[in-house]
Amino acid sequence: MTTATGEKRLLELLDGFLASKVLMTAYKLDLFTAAREPIARDALRAALDLPERSFRIVVDACVALGLLHEDERGLVTPPALAPFLVRAEGRPFQTTTYLLEYYDEVYRALNDMDALVRSDGATSPFKLRDYFKDDVAAIDPQVAAEYSRYMDATIARIVEVVLATYPFGQHRRLLDLCGNTGSFCAAIVAATPGLTGAFLDVPACVDIGRRQLAARPELAGRVDAIAGDLFRTPLPPGFDVITMCRSAMDWGDAKMVEVYRRAREALPPDGRFLVIERMLPARVLPEALPMYLRGVYFLAKSESTRYRSPQEHVALLRAAGFTAITELEPPRAPYEFFQSMRILVAGP
Ligand SMILES: C[S@@+](CC[C@H](N)C(=O)[O-])C[C@H]1O[C@@H](n2cnc3c(N)ncnc32)[C@H](O)[C@@H]1O
Repeated sequence: MTTATGEKRLLELLDGFLASKVLMTAYKLDLFTAAREPIARDALRAALDLPERSFRIVVDACVALGLLHEDERGLVTPPALAPFLVRAEGRPFQTTTYLLEYYDEVYRALNDMDALVRSDGATSPFKLRDYFKDDVAAIDPQVAAEYSRYMDATIARIVEVVLATYPFGQHRRLLDLCGNTGSFCAAIVAATPGLTGAFLDVPACVDIGRRQLAARPELAGRVDAIAGDLFRTPLPPGFDVITMCRSAMDWGDAKMVEVYRRAREALPPDGRFLVIERMLPARVLPEALPMYLRGVYFLAKSESTRYRSPQEHVALLRAAGFTAITELEPPRAPYEFFQSMRILVAGP
């Protein structure tokens, strides 16, 4: 890299924040819905009732970024982006659309990022994932409901890939730790004849899960709900497969060894423990950039959340007494945002 290309790269990075803000702001102003069909600039400005100068600044930036297309018919939201950016009744949940609003809050929390780095996240004002409490009964039901909505909306695609990667047919009873509202457990059980299961999560999520399960009579008696704390609630015996999906990232190493040890002690000798997570490559690879940037968000989210490599998880599993550990690489990512998912299968 020459100094000229080096300087260009730095300016691109500095502009990254501005580009993200343009996207999030235009979405908030609902510019993309107003331009779902070609519309003249004047008509768009009138529809949004925006001042001439600021409208022009935002719209020009959108066109230059490729967020709006402009030709003789006017401005239009490009077809490849419309499903994410145009608001419509009954539109299916999309992670990317959800993040357009969520990251607005994340950016606010990252405003003083040097303080976050110095304090290892302790100074974070972020409250949308306010989960890390000594007493799990103190978790705000509203926060839990909002988090669960996101989790529930994305779990089906993860389950599909998990089922394509690991044969649950060899097991009789599944226990899903941090199972949220039970959607993962219910979906695996529903897809696996002869399997029954239970999920454990904090009371606020289990309450939602119990209501959802009551509406699924076909699963009656096949999925139990356990309201409790991963670190304190005794894990019931009799489960020959224990899973933990998208949750091991939330705690530091000592806490995770504790959880892995509890899982090992609850399993019979031929039982299996599955860690299902996005995992980092062993060495930093540019193609894993989205995960490293997600790590930056973790600075705001909590004082402990972090991605790990499979090797790091294996070391924690070994420290917890597991000996036979296999890494499974799924045939595909469940969805664009959830790259690099791995499944570690551990036997006592
Ligand atoms: C990232 S979500 C993953 C949920 C689910 N496994 C999935 O993939 O959709 C983390 C889950 O951990 C739960 N959780 C957080 N702290 C917990 C604790 N101390 N005990 C039990 N569950 C906890 C949260 O309520 C949330 O449902």
